[in-house]
Amino acid sequence: MAYSSVLDSHIDHILVSSEEIDVITTKIADKISVDFKDSKRLVLLCILKGSVVFMGDLMKKVTIPVEIDFMKVSSYSDGTKSSGRINIMLDLHRSDLSECDILIVEDIIDSGRTLSYLVEYLRLNGANSVKTCTLLDKPSRREVDFTPDYRGIEIPDEFVVGYGLDYAEQYRALPYIGVLKPEIYTK
Ligand code: IMP
Ligand code: MG
Repeated sequence: MAYSSVLDSHIDHILVSSEEIDVITTKIADKISVDFKDSKRLVLLCILKGSVVFMGDLMKKVTIPVEIDFMKVSSYSDGTKSSGRINIMLDLHRSDLSECDILIVEDIIDSGRTLSYLVEYLRLNGANSVKTCTLLDKPSRREVDFTPDYRGIEIPDEFVVGYGLDYAEQYRALPYIGVLKPEIYTK
């Protein structure tokens, strides 16, 4: 694979290549296109910022009409450790929520707190239906019981960056998912 970014040298190894990501996103988009074919209003809800790259690729591959929307939540207080609390930084403001089938698009599930909170929140706010889609899943890190409806790939308990995922706001633009060298986040 051809490396391009100056940040490539911070990567210990690539976990999911851009070619693999392309295959995974196509599979998920195909399933979504079948499963939601009778939906009156499918809304892909991108959880900022980490899901923005996945969202952009996924929405181009879905072959049924979709709307897009955005929420921003934060659960991480410092670089790589979860605070356990979910803060809504940007809320969803729609008057038609009761007509919307919401598909939450997430980059990664770790403790499971963000998605279980958001699913509950959107149901309480009256969405017609709420489903979840994640590119990456770290099931070994679960703190709450949560299973996504669509899952790209399970990964081991390693801190990953790239394809939208960051460490200290960097590495999001890398086209693959990689494991950061430990010395980068422990120094
Ligand atoms: P959860 O609420 O613990 O499931 O965390 C989900 C959020 O944590 C994701 O949306 C990411 O923003 C962040 N996160 C979890 N693991 C990683 C990682 O390995 N790299 C970068 N961000 C991560
Ligand atoms: Mg995130």
